[in-house]
Amino acid sequence: MTVAALILGAGKGTRFHSAMPKVMHPLAGVPLIHYPVTVCQALHLRPIVLVVSPDLKRPLSALLGEGADAVTMAVQREPLGTAHAVLAAARPLARHHGHLLILPGDVPLIRDTTLRAFVQQVVSDRDGPGGLMTFEPASPTGYGRVLRGIDGRIARIVEERDADETVRAIREVNTGVICCRTAWLLAVLKRIRRENAQREYYLTDIARVAAMDGEGLQAIPAADPSEFHGVNSRVELAAVGRVLQTRLWQDWMMRGVTVQDPATTYIERDVRLGHDTVIEPGVSLRGHSTIGVRCRIGQGAVLIDCVVADEVEIRPYSVLEGARIGARCHIGPFARLRPESRLDAEVRVGNFVEIKKSWLKRGVKANHLTYLGDATIGTATNVGCGTITCNYDGVAKHETRIGEGVFIGSDTQFVAPVRVGRGATIAAGSVITHDVPAGALGIARGQQVNKAGWKRKRRKQEKGV
Ligand code: UD1
Ligand code: MG
Repeated sequence: MTVAALILGAGKGTRFHSAMPKVMHPLAGVPLIHYPVTVCQALHLRPIVLVVSPDLKRPLSALLGEGADAVTMAVQREPLGTAHAVLAAARPLARHHGHLLILPGDVPLIRDTTLRAFVQQVVSDRDGPGGLMTFEPASPTGYGRVLRGIDGRIARIVEERDADETVRAIREVNTGVICCRTAWLLAVLKRIRRENAQREYYLTDIARVAAMDGEGLQAIPAADPSEFHGVNSRVELAAVGRVLQTRLWQDWMMRGVTVQDPATTYIERDVRLGHDTVIEPGVSLRGHSTIGVRCRIGQGAVLIDCVVADEVEIRPYSVLEGARIGARCHIGPFARLRPESRLDAEVRVGNFVEIKKSWLKRGVKANHLTYLGDATIGTATNVGCGTITCNYDGVAKHETRIGEGVFIGSDTQFVAPVRVGRGATIAAGSVITHDVPAGALGIARGQQVNKAGWKRKRRKQEKGV
């Protein structure tokens, strides 16, 4: 079966009232347009032609990657309607013999299994021009109503704005998913006019033309209406987001993840979770975060693009971005890990600790009130409370390198660049500006002076009262 795909993503998205094109708005962390592209790639459709507005060509090429799996971009100069959008792709499609699957760019929840069954059904109809998926949403408002002829095939599709009350009462609507013969479609599109309320070329008019020519499009009802909710406003984006969240946490639960309170948990599409991991309420898992098995992600934690190994505990209200965390680490509560933080196994990072672009080797402990930036901390080193790496001199960033088995007393500042050898000890309250050799005690603080017999003057005496 040689089936091509056409995704329509050049619309204005007027109802979004946004400077950003509608199909670039993220849903579960991924721009809307990614969803139909991913599903077409999963079905191995070739070519996949994406119709975009002129301003989207460059950002989308960057987003999808150069030469992304069979995706060809076609530009629609002006958004004059969905039929006009298809014509913008006429050139890359002209070479294609066989069927074409058309997907709207703003209907992100369609499953590949649903499309596969639909395409097979249409393609197996040897004579007809094609078929269209229909569904019955709770409210048909905003969708094109499907009028069937006596043969059960589609007689016409009437858009909301062109419908009278009788037509509006029809519950069966157009999903926007169409599969038809490519050559037939390109010929029929030339016969479409824009005599309608929006003065647009409607792709849905191909149904009327097909019926007039004697053989209407098949109407194939979808089994699960939740897959076909269109995203035409931010309200609909949120509604579709809710449906997708439910799908995601249910999928993860079925694979052995505990989500304690799904209603307050946010999981993005590209997140991966290991079995027997527990997600506490209010957690946000974003980007390409990957979490291992038997982890616990504490209440209110936010993880963005993090790689977390097995049996890690992230305690409540920790915020982690771009960090790699080894097995059996304990993080938080209230820890902040910034990009390029790497923690080997069994590291402990406690409350109010910030780590940026630093490597903490196995068994390091930094349990309280610390900033480590551009630092390497050796195996089993103890970072005392209040330690700060002074990594920035106002112009450039500098590195702090601390060896293995070092004991850093509380309230130490390392003025980078600086090195501490293995097994060294740093006295509490030190400001370390010079390297400390292995095994040495580094002490760099004002000497304490005790003045014997010194009494505080009493305020009353001072004021002569
Ligand atoms: C469309 C259908 C409607 C269907 C609904 C399903 C038409 C005329 N109407 O309505 O029957 O029930 O989808 O969700 O087809 N686009 C372009 N270029 C354009 C106009 C639109 O590429 O000139 C793209 C949009 O980016 C969008 C898709 O086509 O991804 C659908 O356009 P939209 O304006 O959202 O149509 P709807 O009003 O939702
Ligand atoms: Mg739409």
